[in-house]
Amino acid sequence: MSIQRSFARSVVACAVGSLFAVGGALAGEVEVLHWWTSGGEAKSVVELKKILETKGHKWKDFAVAGGGGENAMTVLKSRVVSGKPPTAAQVKGPSIQEWGAEGVLTQMDGVSKAGNWDGLLPAVVSNVMKYQGHYVAVPVNVHRVNWMWANPEVFKKAGAKIPTTWDEFAVAAEKIQKAGFVAVAHGGQPWQDATVFESVALGVGGADWFNKAFVKLDTGALNSPTMEKSFATLRTVQKYIDKDAANRDWNLATAMVINGKAAMQFMGDWAKGEFTAANKAPGKDYICAPAPGTAGAFTFNIDSFIMFEQKDPEAKKAQADLAAAIMEPQFQEVFNLNKGSIPARSGMDMAKFDQCAKDSTSEFQSSSKSGKLVPSWAHGMAMPSAVQGAMFDVVTQFMNSNMSPKDAAAKMAAAVKAKG
Ligand code: BGC
Repeated sequence: MSIQRSFARSVVACAVGSLFAVGGALAGEVEVLHWWTSGGEAKSVVELKKILETKGHKWKDFAVAGGGGENAMTVLKSRVVSGKPPTAAQVKGPSIQEWGAEGVLTQMDGVSKAGNWDGLLPAVVSNVMKYQGHYVAVPVNVHRVNWMWANPEVFKKAGAKIPTTWDEFAVAAEKIQKAGFVAVAHGGQPWQDATVFESVALGVGGADWFNKAFVKLDTGALNSPTMEKSFATLRTVQKYIDKDAANRDWNLATAMVINGKAAMQFMGDWAKGEFTAANKAPGKDYICAPAPGTAGAFTFNIDSFIMFEQKDPEAKKAQADLAAAIMEPQFQEVFNLNKGSIPARSGMDMAKFDQCAKDSTSEFQSSSKSGKLVPSWAHGMAMPSAVQGAMFDVVTQFMNSNMSPKDAAAKMAAAVKAKG
């Protein structure tokens, strides 16, 4: 055999070898946009990357830091406009519909039918994932937003009791502050302000009013005494936030609770990912409890990935493999153990999960029956993104001025009129 022919043969053999490296699959590169950059979040992303690599594909990380994802969404828009969308992007809630309407998403009919997604996902999850009846997004988890994370040692030192109502909160916070601790760990960023306000409003107004105001965007519910009371309660909470909170990242606020500098934080259960990454045990080193007044209610926030249409067959295959892998029980387990959330897929074995996750699972189920399962508007699950942005502005203006609760309530209604 000539040298040329044997060289040609080995080149072909190599090419075939790499194409069919894993179980005869095409090997593609998947570029994934996300905003998971904190300690607990980064550990979760590693699991996503690993599962993709076990399918023989390559992971191209596209992380855009910034809790709540506002920065990531801005970057995503400019990439799509310039004709270079990533393969997959962390997008959730009604924004999935907004992207669906742009006609740039892959319809995942094949993978979703083969994987029986309709049978495996609760309707409250699958409805959000579909555009015009087709799956265009795949869910990784369900986060509960209305949590309070508390340091029991700090509460003990201050002689304070874990609050279950906002009145009890004020009593406890006063004692904690007098004892020389920061009562509320917070970061002054619009999405964090909205996260706290959302829990306050749910605790003050209850799930029915919450739905009227933030889901139905009813003017009467928005500009109401209940909204005023919610803002007045937010003012009380604000009294117990330290002076250095401006622009502090959420995970640094969580660290203050972990380290015993602060007593509590009002944040979704991605905060638990930070406690887990710091090897802290729930019930012992920290307490997870519903935000005051919100026991039995559940503000849900479902993280999901939308997939952008691909031309290249290898990229298409890699994308489909990623979507299928996300729904596998092994992934849903390990990812959520790190992330602090619960699996999106129903019927999962929860044996390895801690008490907070078990409570979250049972509350998710019971609140869906009692009508107290509500979408988190602070995390993009309830309303068009433009309206959400306008509401964020009102809450943040309120936090940074001496605006009255009455004016704030009127501005919430006006925000919807202007953007709705
Ligand atoms: C996302 C979480 C993320 C958090 C903080 C939320 O909007 O749903 O996955 O951990 O923001 O960045």
